[in-house]
Amino acid sequence: MMLRLVREARRAVASSELLGRAGGRRWLCTAMKGRLEGKIALITGGASGLGKATAHEFIQEGASVVLADINSQMGLQTAEELGPQAHFIHCDVILEDSVAGAVDAAIARHSRLDVMFNSAGVVGSLSGTSEMATLDLDKFDDIMRVNLRGTLAGIKHATRVMAPAGSGSILCMGSISGIMGCLGSYPYSLSKLAIAGIARTAAVELARHGVRVNCISPHAIATPMVVQQFSQMLQGADEATVTAIIRSLGELKGAACEAVDVARAAVYLASDDGKYVSGHNLVVDGGFTTYKYMNVPFPKPQDSE
Ligand SMILES: NC(=O)c1ccc[n+]([C@@H]2O[C@H](COP(=O)([O-])OP(=O)(O)OC[C@H]3O[C@@H](n4cnc5c(N)ncnc54)[C@H](O)[C@@H]3O)[C@@H](O)[C@H]2O)c1
Repeated sequence: MMLRLVREARRAVASSELLGRAGGRRWLCTAMKGRLEGKIALITGGASGLGKATAHEFIQEGASVVLADINSQMGLQTAEELGPQAHFIHCDVILEDSVAGAVDAAIARHSRLDVMFNSAGVVGSLSGTSEMATLDLDKFDDIMRVNLRGTLAGIKHATRVMAPAGSGSILCMGSISGIMGCLGSYPYSLSKLAIAGIARTAAVELARHGVRVNCISPHAIATPMVVQQFSQMLQGADEATVTAIIRSLGELKGAACEAVDVARAAVYLASDDGKYVSGHNLVVDGGFTTYKYMNVPFPKPQDSE
């Protein structure tokens, strides 16, 4: 309990540091050890959204983070915002050499890699991707190249350095769209279904090298990617309206799915708290995908009168 309170205090201090209000409470940061103290993490898609939120949380837990992203402007800005424990490197996960280069850059800077989070992803357009008879296979390939091939490249090159070291935690970003139908386009849903499958499959081989591989599958969260998609679906609704709608889509009373929920799931899987967890798909959805109502035609009150 005490440890949790101190962690929360540390987080509050760190958040206020981001806002430039650290003041005299800075001592708390140096006094505590985090769950990722001294660990080195590489996060693809780390410039924005869930990757950025995870980078922030990892740093609060004592890690140093390399943000690998195709968007250099946003990546550099995010690294500056997160402070000296964050470093940006340009990376396009479509290109294997670029992913290999990001891993090598992390090693060159920190001499090792403890955590690899493959968070980079795209949702793509809904047109030409949502109906089977008119499925645009080029658009399918485009999304698969980023989401699936990019994740596979991340696992491959993290393994290249983690397996010889005999330890490491690889995380992949799934989605509830990879669990239930009709929550995303065909390419997006299939890419996420396959990502959970890759984590499971790779976990078998990598267990022999002391490397764990897990997947995180979140519910909808109002990140730039999802806000933009919903805004299109809702014919240009403004950001505040779209954000409120996204926050209302869950089932768990009194809570909405937030980026920090994914970030904390990632901390758990990356840290020794999850040291015996591998091949797992950690679904962060407030129970959304665990049930479905039957369309039972219950009599309405007036029918029984
Ligand atoms: N937000 C949600 O509701 C939600 C839910 C489930 C899963 N996800 C997944 O979470 C991940 C992050 O998405 P987000 O919601 O944070 O969106 P986001 O757009 O805020 O972040 C995605 C990041 O990936 C980067 N990126 C895109 N293509 C890239 C490439 N080829 N190479 C390197 N970087 C690239 C972008 O520049 C961006 O910084 C994605 O894999 C997404 O599918 C999101």
